[in-house]
Amino acid sequence: MKQRIPLIAGNWKMHGRLVANTFLLSELKSGIQNLGLDINSKSCVAKVDVAVCIPFPYLAQAQSELQSSSVRWGAQDVSMQAEGAYTGEVSAAMLNDFSCAYAIVGHSERRQYHAESDTMVGEKARRLLDAGIIPIVCVGETLQQRKDNLTEVTVARQLNSVLSAIEDSALSKIVVAYEPIWAIGTGVTATPEMAQQVHAFLREQLIVKNAELAEQVKILYGGSMKPDNAASLLSMKDIDGGLIGGASLKSADFLSIIAAARLAV
Ligand code: 13P
Repeated sequence: MKQRIPLIAGNWKMHGRLVANTFLLSELKSGIQNLGLDINSKSCVAKVDVAVCIPFPYLAQAQSELQSSSVRWGAQDVSMQAEGAYTGEVSAAMLNDFSCAYAIVGHSERRQYHAESDTMVGEKARRLLDAGIIPIVCVGETLQQRKDNLTEVTVARQLNSVLSAIEDSALSKIVVAYEPIWAIGTGVTATPEMAQQVHAFLREQLIVKNAELAEQVKILYGGSMKPDNAASLLSMKDIDGGLIGGASLKSADFLSIIAAARLAV
């Protein structure tokens, strides 16, 4: 029996267009209804939280097309500033205007291509919590770091810089996503055992902060999670869901991962 309600979150990255999004979201909504997961469905048998993290320009579209469904929506980044002369930035308050439930922070693509530091990621998480939005905090090691036995040091550093930026009482309001960089978009996945080991280690880090709240934190796995490997990953004790890239762009694949999460409950 899973202790935490699983969360399956899509990260669309820089994909999607207005018309295509409408198709994808409507297939998602009807698929979820068929799975009996919709809040309005009478046959709602087991709970899985479902969300899509989409490009900023489409948040209004998601709000209007998803508000009557059980699918939540969110962004893929946020500014570390509250307001002001920061051209191109989007604040947590702005995300709140579009009822975002989640926003990803510290994705490895932002750390790598936009030089985001651990400190910046911590600030971003804090801004989101202040605005009532759940940060999905990404951590993960490179292939070289894994080979050098630096996986735990790396993810602990990334996680702890967020934990020190937020109030202790806010611990249960974050989601953590373990995304080994070598598994993102490569088709190579961590084995369920490899992933579980890191997830258990991350849980220990959270427990040091607050044992009771740590048990409530969902730790997602991300990195080439697909319909054929989702069930085995999601069956692991500390894997509480997935952050899905490529497979979230195909409704059949995303729905089949959601179905696997329901069976893992
Ligand atoms: P893929 O599922 O495409 O490997 O992407 C994972 C990811 O980066 C989710 O944030």
